[in-house]
Amino acid sequence: MRVREDQRFKNLYWILDGKRQLATKNLTPGHRVYDKFVSLIKGVEYRVWIPYRSKRAAAIYNGLKTFAFKRGSRVLYLGIASGTTASHISDVIEDGVIFGVEIAQRVMRDLLTVTVVRRNIVPIMESARRPQSYCWIVPEVDAVYEDVAQPDQASILIKNSDIFLRSGGYALIAVKASSIDVTLPPKKVYKMVEREIASTGRYKLVETVDLSPYDPKHAMIVFRKL
Ligand SMILES: C[S@@+](CC[C@H](N)C(=O)[O-])C[C@H]1O[C@@H](n2cnc3c(N)ncnc32)[C@H](O)[C@@H]1O
Repeated sequence: MRVREDQRFKNLYWILDGKRQLATKNLTPGHRVYDKFVSLIKGVEYRVWIPYRSKRAAAIYNGLKTFAFKRGSRVLYLGIASGTTASHISDVIEDGVIFGVEIAQRVMRDLLTVTVVRRNIVPIMESARRPQSYCWIVPEVDAVYEDVAQPDQASILIKNSDIFLRSGGYALIAVKASSIDVTLPPKKVYKMVEREIASTGRYKLVETVDLSPYDPKHAMIVFRKL
């Protein structure tokens, strides 16, 4: 089994073992978020990042060009859930910090078991529709990442990015087409989201990546704040 760092994105790795598997270096060796997907290579623990379980990983497999997270990044994560994807971003940003907003108590309980060990994730139990309620704790950030699967997901991203995202930073949204309009073809829904956010005049569309076959009817859309 061999491992090599991704050619474009630092702190992302590919485990080569007949097949290619995306991975991050475990920031907290010995502590595992989802147990069985860990490989020990030359004494280093790598956590396999599974595209069927994380839209961010699916986007990377599907050719995403903008990773948006690196060592030291400050990230606002809306809809962090139990921290599956966030734990990999936490591996990548190392001494950076993720402010993770989540509305559901049940998943927040699971997230807390992750944040006890991973000290670079700050859990915030709130609705992402009310950014004013956490503006006392969240500073200016380098990236806003949203995965809330709600009908007003575009406006939630705008509201938060207007307040917290630095100029030149990235706003990323995992769009679930059926949450917005189940009657329209997904591609039309992605276009609607692109237009709604770009029409503010404050965000420039960078790229849209379809997440099929890992997450059908979902896309990752990336904007840059002007
Ligand atoms: C698809 S899941 C997120 C999965 C997670 N991003 C991952 O990849 O590990 C969507 C999450 O958004 C949360 N959510 C929905 N509406 C929200 C809101 N208004 N504010 C904060 N979180 C919300 C849900 O409770 C759920 O945990």
